[in-house]
Amino acid sequence: MSMPIVDDAAKVLADPAAYTDESRLHTALSSLRANAPVSLVDVPPYKPFWAITKHADVMAVERANQVFTNWPRPVLMPAASDEMQAAVGIKTLIHMDDPQHRIVRAIAADWFSPKSMRAMGERIEQLAVRYVDQMRDAGGECDFVQEVAVNYPLYVIMFLLGVPEADFPLMLELTQELIGSDDDEYKRTMSETETMTALAEMFAYFKTLTDSRRANPTDDLASVIANATIDGEPLSDIETMSYYAIIATAGHDTTSATIAGGMRALIEHPAQREELAADLGLMSRATEEMIRWVTPVKAFMRTAAQDAKVNGVPIAEGESLLLSYASANRDEEVFDDPFRFDIHREPNKHVAFGFGVHFCLGAALARMEVGKFFAELLPRLKSAELAGEPELIATTFVGGLKHLPIRYELS
Ligand code: HEM
Repeated sequence: MSMPIVDDAAKVLADPAAYTDESRLHTALSSLRANAPVSLVDVPPYKPFWAITKHADVMAVERANQVFTNWPRPVLMPAASDEMQAAVGIKTLIHMDDPQHRIVRAIAADWFSPKSMRAMGERIEQLAVRYVDQMRDAGGECDFVQEVAVNYPLYVIMFLLGVPEADFPLMLELTQELIGSDDDEYKRTMSETETMTALAEMFAYFKTLTDSRRANPTDDLASVIANATIDGEPLSDIETMSYYAIIATAGHDTTSATIAGGMRALIEHPAQREELAADLGLMSRATEEMIRWVTPVKAFMRTAAQDAKVNGVPIAEGESLLLSYASANRDEEVFDDPFRFDIHREPNKHVAFGFGVHFCLGAALARMEVGKFFAELLPRLKSAELAGEPELIATTFVGGLKHLPIRYELS
């Protein structure tokens, strides 16, 4: 192994709690970008990894997708979970490399294209209206994360998958049980048997859905997945489940976190909020800035398939790299005044959706969900202020606010 660059700052990237304190996190990340943009981090329970913190280096690694692969370590997890993942065999898009990745991604790619997303616009708008109405009915005070931001994207994704509305509460329960978290408030204390039961229930649910869409295809995403073929064969049960799982998980917390963090930014910048409410034509730029500002996916990982170099630093075959989107999106070499929230920011070449062949499949959907929500909310919002301390979730992967107490007047 090459000479490790010993730098305490890099340890924040292996510390879920660091993400609950943005000033601590960003002080460390800024120092890494300036002094050690490719640093080795060796902190149990994680296997060692190289922290990549410059925007240009993140893009270069993603672009070289033959050299730096997603398999076997796409996400930072404790070493024991790395081993378990390899053993269990669930392989979603984020675990795959070309040529398999290209073939499997193509199954849903058209369905997620900006054009087909526009066709979903009306239904998503109705859901946005429903959640803004609920906010109004909450009577002028709520925890915006728990009561609004968490629910709306889950309902959108369930609706797109084709899960009947009566089953949404069951899905919410099962996904919350199954998706553990580094945050104490969300840690599940389920026994192995309980976890297996929840998993089996989820599989059984999606198996029934798949069978029904094979018998009677409709126009939802479940029908696309259920009736897809690779080399003339339908997807196996495990492949089908993996597809549902990646869409349900990737499409939920990411968008929730963006809407919650976007709301907080607009409360803290009232002049920009008023300007946006008065001119919804600014919404697409504002949406992009909210996504950069929040950067809900903190990082993905790659593993070197051969000896290579990143920004002059040698990386040996088999070593992993953590691409810090949180850092890249505050890179002062790419963004003017990166710590300023600015709905007019242009250009805004953030990497919150990643880059290259794995670029977020749901980007058009996410942009539409965020844009339509604020386009409904802002013209109706007469006032909004914080009603308590916002709290961030402890994570090294996906997250943002977990509580945002607010007080508001809404028509
Ligand atoms: C992949 C971010 C919303 C589905 C990704 C990646 C990032 C990301 C960073 C990895 C890209 C890379 O490796 O280069 C986000 C953000 C979102 C969001 C910031 C919200 C603001 C969604 C939604 C969906 C979705 C709504 C859809 C249901 C996916 C899928 C992948 C992915 C399926 C895997 C793509 C692949 O590996 O080929 N996303 N995402 N995402 N996202 Fe999103």
